[in-house]
Amino acid sequence: DKAGHKHFMAKEIAEQPVVLANTLANYLTANGEITLPDPGIDFTAIDRLTMVACGTAYYACLTAKYWFEQIARLPVEVDVASEFRYREPPIPARTLALFVSQSGETADTLAALRYCEGKADKIMSVINVPESSIARESDLALPIFAGVEVGVASTKAFTCQLTVLLMLVLKAAKARGTITDTQMADHISALRSLPALMNLGIEQGEAMQSTARKLAEARDILFLGRGVMYPLALEGALKLKEISYIHAEAYASGELKHGPIALIDKSVPVVVMAPRDTLFDKTISNMQEVMARKGKVALISNAAGIEEAGDGTWAQIKMPDCPDIVAPILYAIPAQLLAYHTAVAKGTDVDQPRNLAKSVTVE
Ligand code: F6R
Repeated sequence: DKAGHKHFMAKEIAEQPVVLANTLANYLTANGEITLPDPGIDFTAIDRLTMVACGTAYYACLTAKYWFEQIARLPVEVDVASEFRYREPPIPARTLALFVSQSGETADTLAALRYCEGKADKIMSVINVPESSIARESDLALPIFAGVEVGVASTKAFTCQLTVLLMLVLKAAKARGTITDTQMADHISALRSLPALMNLGIEQGEAMQSTARKLAEARDILFLGRGVMYPLALEGALKLKEISYIHAEAYASGELKHGPIALIDKSVPVVVMAPRDTLFDKTISNMQEVMARKGKVALISNAAGIEEAGDGTWAQIKMPDCPDIVAPILYAIPAQLLAYHTAVAKGTDVDQPRNLAKSVTVE
């Protein structure tokens, strides 16, 4: 049932504020404690994490790496499952292996998990399907409570994965003493503000539609982001190529001058994901290098960011102000909606893109 939407993907994007509030309710107590299912995990007994996944779930891991390292001071390695499983990576003592999968049945991710059995101290997973193989074979499986995701392109599962991962990071930080009570309270209230912020983000649909109609004419599109926005740029590019079939690539904005800037000319739109945060000035200086070469910049930022750097850009998408910590979760909305509206403008089969399956159970 598409609940009045034209596509399941549109429905699943729109329901994120409600779905995510439910995910939060499953992990947060009234007084702001984060509870994990039994048997829980002792974060003082591990020194590092290795995270493994595919596709969008892999980008959720990449985002979580920034959080785990900055907030819980835990070193994290992230890999795509198809590479990890055949590399025979050494797994040092006191390693937590963490697998992220919507379906819980992705063949490469499951094989990577089995490789870690008997090597990692603990095997954990973040899954949407509690009865799945990956959930069953983990010491601890954290459900994301996204509900059934029908659209082949993952949307609500991604934001719910990020939300559960962030709560896990906060839990780890608390156990390891790397976060103050005030910081913890701020982060919890940031999480609680997310459903309302996402609603405000979704209300910017009009600006996203008009930008998408312009993107639909392009042959190649670049996405740029820095810090936690880099994995979001990767996710925006993946979503766009999956459903609109337009070639899209994402780069960490600092990498631009190491090669990809050679691609820039007046026919290449560049989507820049940059809330007004501590890295904003750096990203904007990369954006200006694009504009100096006539690249068409679509800037996704908050009011302060657009005020400061929006002049002369080709398109602007305004996101509500949000605490830095939850920005990657909020900025998933424009990444998804830009891809969705571009695909609709091109008339492609949004829910069933060619050559793709919802669950990749063969390698
Ligand atoms: C992208 C997408 C895929 C999946 C990937 C992993 O929109 O849906 O990239 O994220 O196939 O699937 P799961 O999470 O089921 O392991």
